Amino acid sequence: MKLIVAITGASSVIYGKRLLEVLRDKDIETYLVISHTAERIIEHELDTAKKDIENLASHVYEADDWNSPIVSGSFKTDGMVIVPCSMKTLAGIANGYSNNVILRAADVTLKEKRKLILVPRETPLNVIHLQNMLELAKQGVLIVPAMPAYYHKPKSVSDIVNYVVGRVLDLLGIEHTLYKRWHEIQTT
Ligand SMILES: Cc1cc2nc3c(=O)[nH]c(=O)nc-3n(C[C@H](O)[C@H](O)[C@H](O)COP(=O)(O)O)c2cc1C
Repeated sequence: MKLIVAITGASSVIYGKRLLEVLRDKDIETYLVISHTAERIIEHELDTAKKDIENLASHVYEADDWNSPIVSGSFKTDGMVIVPCSMKTLAGIANGYSNNVILRAADVTLKEKRKLILVPRETPLNVIHLQNMLELAKQGVLIVPAMPAYYHKPKSVSDIVNYVVGRVLDLLGIEHTLYKRWHEIQTT
C-alpha cells in the first residue's frame, strides 16, 4: 500500500505523528509533506523537530517541491490523508486552488477518484468552513474531524490520539487494535 500523508498547520499535529508511526510499523509506504506552518506547530506542540517526524516516513517532500511524484496523477497511490487539516488547506482543496504540493496532491487524489481523508481541526466552525466540508463530502472526501470519543474510556492523551488515528485506519481498511470498539467494551 502507498499512501500520501500531509501534516498542515492546525493544532493537534500529534495525530499526524501517530498515524505515521502506525503506518511505519505496518510497513506501509508513505509519501510525506509537512507544510511550513505545520513545522512551526510541530516544534511548539511536540517539542520536536520536523526532521524527527520526517524520519517516520518512507519518502519526504517539501511543500514547494514540484518535482515530487505526488503532484501527478500518473503516480499511482492508494490515497491520501491530511492530518491535521487546516481550514486554509480545506478551502484550497474545496476550491481547486493548488498552489502547493499538498493541495495539488489532494486535487490529484480527487480527480483520480482515490481515497482522500481529511482530519480538520478548528473550533468553532464558521459557515465557510462548514460549506467547504460539505462540498468536499459531496465529492466523496472522507471528513474525520479531530473529535475524540469517550465511550472507550480513555485513560491518557495517548488513548485519545489512538482513537482518532484508529478511525482513520478504519477508513483505510487497515487492521489495528488502537482503540476498543463498542462491542468489545460491552463484552468485557
Ligand atoms: C500555533 C498555530 C495554531 C494554529 N491552529 C490552527 C487550527 O487549529 N486550525 C486551523 O485551521 N488553522 C490553524 N492555524 C492557522 C494556519 O496554520 C494557517 O491558516 C496556515 O496558513 C495554514 O497553512 P497550511 O494549511 O498550508 O499549513 C494555526 C496557526 C498557528 C501558528
